[in-house]
Amino acid sequence: MLTIEPTGAILGATVRGADLSQPLSDADFGQVLHALGQHGVLRFPDQQLNIGDVYRFSVQFGEIQGPSRVDPNGVADPLANVGILSNIKENGAYIGPPDAGQDWHTDMSYRDIMGFVNVLYGIRIPRRAGKALGGTEFSNMHAAYDALPSDVKTRLDGMTATHDFEKFWEHMRRDRNSGRPPMTEEQRNRRPPVVHPLFLTHPISGRKVLYCNPGYAIRINELPQAESDAMLDYLFAHQLEMRFRYTHTWNENDLLIWDHLGTIHRAIDDYGPDEIRLMRRCQVMATKVFEPDFLRLVREAA
Ligand code: SIN
Repeated sequence: MLTIEPTGAILGATVRGADLSQPLSDADFGQVLHALGQHGVLRFPDQQLNIGDVYRFSVQFGEIQGPSRVDPNGVADPLANVGILSNIKENGAYIGPPDAGQDWHTDMSYRDIMGFVNVLYGIRIPRRAGKALGGTEFSNMHAAYDALPSDVKTRLDGMTATHDFEKFWEHMRRDRNSGRPPMTEEQRNRRPPVVHPLFLTHPISGRKVLYCNPGYAIRINELPQAESDAMLDYLFAHQLEMRFRYTHTWNENDLLIWDHLGTIHRAIDDYGPDEIRLMRRCQVMATKVFEPDFLRLVREAA
């Protein structure tokens, strides 16, 4: 039996009693899913994990995003999709993207199959004068939906939004001085814009969330262009109000997971090139979370 300690803030809880270097029982996993639906962001402190442990834990939530890779013998290598985020350079090149997620978004809203969970394992955390830097900030989309004025909820009910990967890419190039080249035609063809409901019923909580984010949402499809632009500006400002926000301050060996359907997030870029940050990451897609069998685990834990 795990212990779930809520932070007392608008998001977040610490999970105690789990050793993630070992498989979780179905009952414990159900408890984690239930807590994720309640608190959106879960921290498992003091975990000693290798890459295989991060993979085994992550894949329980669904398929891990990434191209399926094969080793030189043609054997599929699932661990290849456990990524690295870091500002460490080896032989002049970063060992993983140093600027991933450094503005508000939710992962994979630009895909047909949305993101469900992000799993991030903190290996090296930048510190200055003892203070941890490079936190991850979240905003609560259950609370943002609940707080919308009722005329806005009624007006937008049943509407859809288009999400486009290129929006975030161009924003990083234009506004954040990212060294990324423009997307190629081939990259654009691989990532065409997709459409999702603007208000989504969260499969775990059963409550509505505002499924929209400044990173990727470009259009509310059922509104004329000018009205869509104005409404998106309104929703982006609303969903980032301070009352919905929570920042996770990292410790080494924290394993952090968060719910992409019910939160949006950003990585805080407050550390320098010599202040090292090193994380392992799995981005898990929503391939299981809408399935009744999977949700049974949540019901049994409730
Ligand atoms: C991400 O957006 O996936 C990364 C968040 C972080 O590095 O804190």
